[in-house]
Amino acid sequence: NRYCVIMGGGVGSRFWPFSRNSRPKQFLDFFGIGRSLLQMSYDRFVKIIPKDHIFIVTNEIYVDVIKEQLPELPEANILLEPARRNTAPCIAWAAYHIRAINPNANIVVAPSDHLILKEEEFARCINLGLEFVAKYPALLTLGIKPNRPETGYGYIQIGEDAEGDIKTVKTFTEKPNLEFAKMFVESGEFFWNSGIFIWNVQTIIKAFQRFLPDISNRFEEHNEVFNTPAEQAFINDNFAACPNISIDFGIMEKASNVFVLCADFGWSDLGSWSALYDHSPKNKDGNVAQGCKTLLYNTANNVIAVKGDKLVVVEGLKDYIVAEADNVLLICPKSEEQKIKQFVTDAKMAY
Ligand code: GDD
Ligand code: MG
Repeated sequence: NRYCVIMGGGVGSRFWPFSRNSRPKQFLDFFGIGRSLLQMSYDRFVKIIPKDHIFIVTNEIYVDVIKEQLPELPEANILLEPARRNTAPCIAWAAYHIRAINPNANIVVAPSDHLILKEEEFARCINLGLEFVAKYPALLTLGIKPNRPETGYGYIQIGEDAEGDIKTVKTFTEKPNLEFAKMFVESGEFFWNSGIFIWNVQTIIKAFQRFLPDISNRFEEHNEVFNTPAEQAFINDNFAACPNISIDFGIMEKASNVFVLCADFGWSDLGSWSALYDHSPKNKDGNVAQGCKTLLYNTANNVIAVKGDKLVVVEGLKDYIVAEADNVLLICPKSEEQKIKQFVTDAKMAY
């Protein structure tokens, strides 16, 4: 009774213009190795969990990309959302769907856009976590030791030892401001939420009933449709009415049965151009070039990602992102990359 849910419906806007609404970052072959981040996530899980038990939840507009990238995945294991409602409704649907198949399922819920370097250690942690949630009604998250006050993550304050490397959680704070993030990191008591969760299907459904009944009541009332031919029509009629909220704000911050497995498997969120920069091979001046030929003079520590086999010639540029894809060219200091989300919104308004 081991299952996996890969969430692949986000937009990855901080990677614009490479990441576009039509093909967000989880579908991109970031390192030029012939596998997208989604495919790499799938490859990691298929070693631990039977293929038929792996589900991808995504927006309906990505159905063709998913089928193209994961032809071996049974079609019934692709759950298609008619609207974007963030991760809580996505996780709820997957839980109700899987409960209809196996009411005692233990489920790993994972993002589709992370980098994990130590795969064996990752597999060991997932196995440990699955064993733990089979025994206890716990909402388990995998925690990562923080090395900077990143504001884009959830922060977990650890409590007492529970079992092995698993600890109780005192507080869970999703995306704190910089001041709090700094305090959390300095205190040494906090871990980052990796966004990988493990729980028994009954435990997570109970949490939805308690904290997000607007979602669970709707699903509970039509419990009989899940895993039947009537399911998609029900979702198409009801999904958009679910509140738009992440699992972190909706449940993890509020629940008291949260546990954390403190893990170290070479995790990176790959949330931004700088993260890609950090994980890519560089030339002697610290430049990363992707998808293009370059002639660089007095130019250091940039990430230059230009599609379409162009020659990029640069003089005197330091610590910048130069990214061109389709009809957009972005030039932005790496230090200002958090503004890219805003640029995307503004570009939509203006053009
Ligand atoms: N199916 C579906 N539908 N998937 C979605 C949706 C949606 O509406 N929205 C986001 N996702 C997917 C994304 O593609 C990604 O794989 C995953 O869910 C997490 O969403 P993000 O939008 O990337 O979340 P985040 O990075 O801001 O924050 C989460 O991850 C951090 C670590 O990377 C939180 O869990 C944080 O607490 C955590 O630290
Ligand atoms: Mg993310």
